[in-house]
Amino acid sequence: MGRALPLLFWCACGLAQAFDITPYRVGDSLPASEARVLLARYAARPQQPWREPDEARIPAGPEGDQIRDGIDLLRNTSRRVGKLAPDETKRMNWNSLNCVNCHQAGPSGLPGSKKFALPLVNAVNDYPKFDIKSGKIISLEQRALGMFGAGSVPILADTPEFQSIMAYLRWLARDTRPGAAMDGAGLMPMDAMPRAADPLRGQKLFATKCQACHGADATGQRKADFNNGGGYLFPPLTGDDTYDNAGHMFAVPLLARYIRASMPLGASHDKPQLTAAEALDIAAYVNDDATPRRHNPNRAKLYPDAALRPQGFAIPEHFAGQSPRAYQRAKFGPFRNVNEHY
Ligand code: HEC
Ligand code: HEC
Repeated sequence: MGRALPLLFWCACGLAQAFDITPYRVGDSLPASEARVLLARYAARPQQPWREPDEARIPAGPEGDQIRDGIDLLRNTSRRVGKLAPDETKRMNWNSLNCVNCHQAGPSGLPGSKKFALPLVNAVNDYPKFDIKSGKIISLEQRALGMFGAGSVPILADTPEFQSIMAYLRWLARDTRPGAAMDGAGLMPMDAMPRAADPLRGQKLFATKCQACHGADATGQRKADFNNGGGYLFPPLTGDDTYDNAGHMFAVPLLARYIRASMPLGASHDKPQLTAAEALDIAAYVNDDATPRRHNPNRAKLYPDAALRPQGFAIPEHFAGQSPRAYQRAKFGPFRNVNEHY
């Protein structure tokens, strides 16, 4: 128990200032010029080497139990807090995915520990940050709460399950350098290609490289006890139960970078199984408007600063009155730089 007090103290203060946002506060909306200065400060943070987490180093006692509970929640999100969780009072997540389906496990086996597959290892040091999507400064807690979306039961920061997830995130980043970025974070940088990403080529590639697991219609494969919170053996890439038509994954270059470092299952950033062009074509097919996906009614309000939108985040609402070709080009490229703004 000797460590409980300093830990609590650190949670309240250290965490909130992992990235120094002075003179701003969490929740502030910034005018474009100030946002850019803050983003430049963020980009100029010192870099630290990747840090492989080791489950054997989780402490014993209540602190360790909470961390392990956080791990279990990321792995078994669907059963614990999913849309179809057996305990109806815990249905805080909007879908039946597990967090680890996207925040994949690396060699350590721990959720969120795979390089360039949106790892969570350095998350506590990466916040608060200016969020180009909302145009506001957000905290890590806000980002993580947002991941649950609107479940049938509201998720609150003081919910025990959420506290466990935060304990795990803090444990992942222990011994790291506060305020420093980390190698392997986010998504793998990738070369652009001179032509536009092509959904038709992507469809053919999908059939040979992805369909066996994710299904011919990409709706995934449910476990036998799906209706009792079992979730998916292979998660869906389309339909109502996966990322919506406004998320990061919906931008063709971002999805391409994600799958290149992690898919087909077994691929990694240092052993990719797809070329950049193949990844872009497959992402174009998966994110094509013809592929069904949950509609986000607020999407036209996202990324208020058009110059800070990630490449490929294109929605028809932003192209009213313009030629369909302008929209197609924004969505599928050719992109000058697929690594911009993320
Ligand atoms: C469909 C894929 C998907 C699922 C499922 C998912 N996330 Fe995420 N998550 C993302 C993406 C994409 C980002 C990065 C973009 C962003 O900042 O919004 C992200 C960012 C995060 C971050 C911030 C880390 C960072 O690098 O900015 C945290 C923390 C997080 N997710 C937690 C969770 C938790 C907890 C769950 C389960 C309740 C979850 N996520 C489920 C896709 C997913
Ligand atoms: C051998 C089976 C297998 C193959 C082949 C495969 N995947 Fe996956 N995919 C998985 C599994 C399993 C997960 C969830 C990872 C986890 O939970 O650790 C996943 C997760 C994903 C995710 C993130 C979760 C989501 O629902 O959005 C995407 C995107 C994805 N795969 C795309 C692809 C693409 C594109 C291909 C083809 C290039 C592909 N996968 C090939 C098994 C596979």
